Amino acid sequence: MARLRLEGQIEKSRKNKVIEYYNKVARRYENRFPTEFIGRREMRVFSQMLPSEPIKALDFGCGTGRSTGVLLRANYTLTGYDPSPEMLAMAKSAYPQFERNVEWFNSKNDLAGKQWPLITCIGVMDYFPDAAMLIRELCNYLMPGGTLIFSCPNSLSPLGRIFQVLSRFTCQVYPKSEYTLCAILRAMGFSINEVRYAFPETRGIGHTLFISATLLHE
Ligand SMILES: C[S@@+](CC[C@H](N)C(=O)[O-])C[C@H]1O[C@@H](n2cnc3c(N)ncnc32)[C@H](O)[C@@H]1O
Repeated sequence: MARLRLEGQIEKSRKNKVIEYYNKVARRYENRFPTEFIGRREMRVFSQMLPSEPIKALDFGCGTGRSTGVLLRANYTLTGYDPSPEMLAMAKSAYPQFERNVEWFNSKNDLAGKQWPLITCIGVMDYFPDAAMLIRELCNYLMPGGTLIFSCPNSLSPLGRIFQVLSRFTCQVYPKSEYTLCAILRAMGFSINEVRYAFPETRGIGHTLFISATLLHE
């Protein structure tokens, strides 16, 4: 019991550190090097993985709205959630032309009891030492038969490992491999639709790993 409480406190403090970091960098997040350079390549791959029929989606950890923008431009109806108020403030002002297609939430209370046929979660798994913890949480918001698309730094890529070392100076990231993530997803009742890489797009060695998986009906 005491151990569980301690683990909960460690997890809360880790999450708060990440939010504090993103509050600090929000204004320059999209324009700084190498985020902007790698980000453009990541968004290209992400846009190619979206289901062809636009539907409702939850962009979990939407940040300044970079991934949300890809979905809005593809005619999705969107809910954007991010725990960093500063990142979310940037997202809210970024898409006045799509105002009617998107709602923005800063609190998980606003997501409670709702489910979406598509959840996108780009650049959030990076900060989770335990991938299963985030996937379990996302399952609360995913309809049976729904699809999850997420990204993570690739632990089998030298660039992913360099990112891990450099992140010690900002906010620690935890790269993971396609094999570990797919095994966790399958054990949780998902079937894997597609695995892609970005920067470079070469299978297995790209810095960023993207996975699309569908939650099978029970
Ligand atoms: C690398 S940014 C990515 C933002 C956006 N998805 C994009 O593609 O530009 C990571 C975002 O995840 C958010 N985040 C961090 N921890 C989170 C958590 N536990 N749950 C949801 N979002 C989280 C941060 O506030 C930040 O905005």
